[in-house]
Amino acid sequence: MEENIKQLTDTTLANIAACDTGAQLNDIRIGILGKSGALTALLKSMKDIPPEKRPEVGKIVNVARERLEAAIADRQAVIEQQELDRRLQSEKIDISIDVPTPCAGGYHPLTLIRNRIVDFFSSLSFVVDEGPEIETDYYNFEALNIPADHPAREMQDTFFVTDKFLLRSQTSAGQIRMMEKVKPPIKMISPGRVFRADEADATHSPVFHQVEGLVVDKGITMCDLKGILDLFAKKFFNENTQTRFRPSYFPFTEPSVEVDASCSQCGGKGCRVCKGTGWIEILGAGMVNRNVLKNCDIDPDIYTGYAFGVGLDRITNIIYGINNLRTVYENDIRFLKQFN
Ligand code: DAH
Repeated sequence: MEENIKQLTDTTLANIAACDTGAQLNDIRIGILGKSGALTALLKSMKDIPPEKRPEVGKIVNVARERLEAAIADRQAVIEQQELDRRLQSEKIDISIDVPTPCAGGYHPLTLIRNRIVDFFSSLSFVVDEGPEIETDYYNFEALNIPADHPAREMQDTFFVTDKFLLRSQTSAGQIRMMEKVKPPIKMISPGRVFRADEADATHSPVFHQVEGLVVDKGITMCDLKGILDLFAKKFFNENTQTRFRPSYFPFTEPSVEVDASCSQCGGKGCRVCKGTGWIEILGAGMVNRNVLKNCDIDPDIYTGYAFGVGLDRITNIIYGINNLRTVYENDIRFLKQFN
């Protein structure tokens, strides 16, 4: 019996020392110490031993069990450490490796200027109302005093979505939506994207941006328009900037003007930027046409208003001295980085 126990213990200790996974170790533990394990079987056979020898043999079995349990626990610790080492090794991250540093994003130049324009007009209590990009013929043309067959439709090559729907060719559509919703006094701007079937080149793009402005109240005159645009030009170009009104034509305003700002590059003396004229065209504007007010159920004998439409891309190009519209749309990161 004693010999059996010793042999069993030695072989099992050798097996324990040789095993290298937790599962193997568990099999060994069950095989020797489990309910039907070899050592357990030996204990059960104690009944065949003469009673006076039992305490002695019992002691030997207990010592063997303790040795085996200790060996299993030690091996278990070693295996766990090995497994941890293996995992750490396989999941190791080489922090010395060269990776591109992520650079912080920034606003696009058009967004920067748009935000400045919005801030400027908001500070003068204009509300901001962006209309939809897909419009109906009514809002984009009809209600703006541009009926079907009106030659002014030719000025804007429009993308039609269906017979009834089109991609708005001007943010002026926002004026009508506003005047339908709210009765005077009205002070609003409507910034957004507009679309025209234009070939892309240095000065054109089929998608560009405008900011529409509209003020309607009792007693609004051209002087109010001049005042606000002067302030705008001084704020966006420089303190000494002047504006001038040139007579023009838009179906939705009467009278209509094109507005120039004195060239901020040369101060009005004439240079390459202003093509020697000293002036740069910045927007179209005028007094809201009586027909447009009537279309929105506003009595033109009581209320008058002014409207203007700024080309955001144009203003951005002037302010940053960009001479090719394409660079604004190409989104080359080296170009965009200069603005942030
Ligand atoms: N909608 C015009 C355009 O796209 C710009 C414009 C001119 C808007 C005069 C106005 C305005 O509100 O009064 O060319």
